[in-house]
Amino acid sequence: MFAQDVMDQLIRTGPQDPCGRLMRRYWQPVALSEEVDNKAPLPLTILGEDYVVFRNADGVPGLMARLCAHRGADLSYGVCEPEGLRCLYHGWKYDVTGQCVEQPPEPEGRGFADRIRLHAPPVVERAGLLFAYLGEGEPPEFPDYEFLRYGEENTFVTKVFHECNHLQANEGNLDQSHLGFLHVFYPEETHSHQELEKSAPGGSKNAVELINEDKAPEMEVEYTDYGFTEFTTRKAPEGRYLKIQSFLLPNVAVFPGAVQGIGGHQVHWHVPVDDENHWKFVLVFRRDEAVDKARLAKALVGVDELLPGYRMKRTRANHHLQNRPQMASALPTNGLGLGFEIHDAVICESGGAIQDRLQENLGYSDRSVIALRRSMLDAIKRIDAGEPAPGTVHRPEDNGFPEINVIAQVIAEGEDPRRIAAEVADRRRVEEAARG
Ligand code: FES
Ligand SMILES: [Fe+2]
Repeated sequence: MFAQDVMDQLIRTGPQDPCGRLMRRYWQPVALSEEVDNKAPLPLTILGEDYVVFRNADGVPGLMARLCAHRGADLSYGVCEPEGLRCLYHGWKYDVTGQCVEQPPEPEGRGFADRIRLHAPPVVERAGLLFAYLGEGEPPEFPDYEFLRYGEENTFVTKVFHECNHLQANEGNLDQSHLGFLHVFYPEETHSHQELEKSAPGGSKNAVELINEDKAPEMEVEYTDYGFTEFTTRKAPEGRYLKIQSFLLPNVAVFPGAVQGIGGHQVHWHVPVDDENHWKFVLVFRRDEAVDKARLAKALVGVDELLPGYRMKRTRANHHLQNRPQMASALPTNGLGLGFEIHDAVICESGGAIQDRLQENLGYSDRSVIALRRSMLDAIKRIDAGEPAPGTVHRPEDNGFPEINVIAQVIAEGEDPRRIAAEVADRRRVEEAARG
């Protein structure tokens, strides 16, 4: 069991809290590109701090402190103009760097506007997401994760608001034992999960069959500088069904997901709004073919599940609209619709906004949950000792993560998963070198 004060280090994300300090040392996604335009500013709260984000007429995004430096009006009520955001109260205008560029009611020539600049964290737009560095000082290099390199055609992104602490959802990502219980399907529902119908590479059965037939996978974790890699194997007719996936500090998971690791993979990134709410950003990419966005949307967030603003209709207050009559029918279902992300969000919210960790009893199957906590605690110790945040890169020439691999395939009995991982990593290095 983890003591409450230890869990609090991982749960609380204010500027002075250990996890809050850790998260502020990494680039974090803060919005989808598609929701930020030059028509209406978007209010955001990230890590308990209020921001507004907008674009200028050139499409350049600007993220800045939400309240106007004049007399504190909320700038998300403001007016987008070609070269900045104008406060609705008295018309002060800010450019995308947070610099005040106009104060219409003030006498000219005093240089007052020049001295006013709102806190405006650096922003990078990549793979359909806006990222910000919310910490102090010089940011690390923007991480050159493979999954952020592909264009619009090859990448699907969305997000889902979760009314619960970031950690309890993040812990679910590499938790293999929930797959055969929480995510159950009517047979026809698998049609929205294109890759789940195909046989796992190297085998004759598909992932759903393999997961349902062995609900007690063997698990191992290997700590790395960026977090840890998880190796799980299940029984398969031809040997073992191997999955290799990773936790990337401080709040990311990469795993086979909706494309089953075939030519790409899925990513979950859990960004606190505050300690009782967070955004789960979801990304799926394929290297060499376009992603089917309509199919992925159906598979991941279901049909008609979200309200405007990427919030679920299902909440704790309505018992997440779980369909009990459907559950009583002969076909297996969790009564929570089609969407994988919805299932996960519901079950993570079900334990409460901040789950009581003193009531937990962790077992063998929770190895990755324990590894996640240990790697975060270790990372906190390291930044407190003055070291760079683990997994961050500080020189352009070091930027790249070829060792992060996501694999799902059937291997022969007795084959070493680490050898497979090394082989795939070598192949990826060669492919990447060929790609230039
Ligand atoms: S409060 Fe924004 S211009 Fe006065
Ligand atoms: Fe899940």
